[in-house]
Amino acid sequence: MDRSDKPRVVLGVSGGIAAYKACELLRRLTESGHDVRVVPTGSALKFVGEPTWAALSGNPVTTGVWEDVHEVPHVRIGQEADLVVVAPATADTLARAAHGLADDLLTNTLLTARCPVVFAPAMHTEMWEHPATAENVATLRRRGAVVIEPAVGRLTGKDTGKGRLPDPGEIFEVCRRLLARGAAPGRDLAGRHVVVSAGGTREPLDPVRFLGNRSSGRQGYALARTAVARGARVTLVAANTSLPDPAGADVVPVGTAVQLREAVLKAAEDADAVVMAAAVADFRPARYAQGKIKKRDGQEPEPVALVRNPDVLAELAGLSAARPGQVVVGFAAETDDVLANGRAKLARKGCDLLVVNEVGEDRTFGAEENEAVVLGADGSETPVPHGPKEALADTVWDKVVHMLNAG
Ligand code: CTP
Repeated sequence: MDRSDKPRVVLGVSGGIAAYKACELLRRLTESGHDVRVVPTGSALKFVGEPTWAALSGNPVTTGVWEDVHEVPHVRIGQEADLVVVAPATADTLARAAHGLADDLLTNTLLTARCPVVFAPAMHTEMWEHPATAENVATLRRRGAVVIEPAVGRLTGKDTGKGRLPDPGEIFEVCRRLLARGAAPGRDLAGRHVVVSAGGTREPLDPVRFLGNRSSGRQGYALARTAVARGARVTLVAANTSLPDPAGADVVPVGTAVQLREAVLKAAEDADAVVMAAAVADFRPARYAQGKIKKRDGQEPEPVALVRNPDVLAELAGLSAARPGQVVVGFAAETDDVLANGRAKLARKGCDLLVVNEVGEDRTFGAEENEAVVLGADGSETPVPHGPKEALADTVWDKVVHMLNAG
């Protein structure tokens, strides 16, 4: 591909210790076929120098408005961009962007860009929570920018808290989704709270063994990621997954079906939509052995008695009378009679939408791609062709948005 055919991305880098993580974001963007122009602030260059950005991007790097003036870069870079992502975005950069200052190349670029703009803030918790920063973030979001929630974890120095730059791979996913959806960032879930469950529950038999399933959590994570890109506040209840936290989602880790039920019902209290993508165990061992179950010579093992777990999806659907307008979505993994079983399950569970996919030992579980039919309680049937799990996720959100706007 010729450079001119590649989507143009501006990577703004501001002066925080997390600037080194932007190198990984830059690498992912260039390797996936984007033409990236890095625009660091002056203080960003104290953390990572100009040669690194130039070598990794293959493009010239400037920070001020007085270099290459004949090319009018302070206007052109922003005008020509398909996406601007600022990572890390410091409190100072957020403030300058919110107030429309134009004292360096990055802030000029932000004023001239008409494409989607993403900020990935990173700072100490106190700075993130300060009312000044909160108001600046609200201003930027109101104007249509995507401001990713910082992650919680270890910060510079000894402290931990909210303010970490999300995983660069996850910032990349947010960018990729925005570019795929075109110039208008489809922020049709802005102002909505959505809850997604993902992964597979584990029901312990003893301290070392459990009954589990093959769910990787990928479909649920794709749902969370796409909902963030569409502007939603996202709570992701994650059962036993090993995937990086989707940037911007509030992740609640759980283990068992009972823990998942508690976390989902709590988050669902003020939710506009709940999507149950998790594989929830229908049964759990009736008895939990406090010590490891030992084999005994000459003795057959004790049979494992099981009891039913609560059906979270049916419970959520049952609460719908008290929560008018809340959309409840279920998933069904079927091995045969896929559509007939799906219809029957939709009716039995009482949810608004049911995503039915065919599974087998080497189909769907853990795979990057998926193929499904989305069934509606209104009788609708939407086939989603084989493709990335994010494409299926976007079809689900399209339907959810339609129902929310109609209701
Ligand atoms: N689910 C749930 N709580 C359970 C079991 C399942 O909330 N205890 C949800 C899943 O998250 C999924 C949907 O129900 O959204 C369908 O799950 P599935 O296991 O396919 O349905 P079952 O009720 O187990 O039906 P069957 O045993 O007939 O396959």
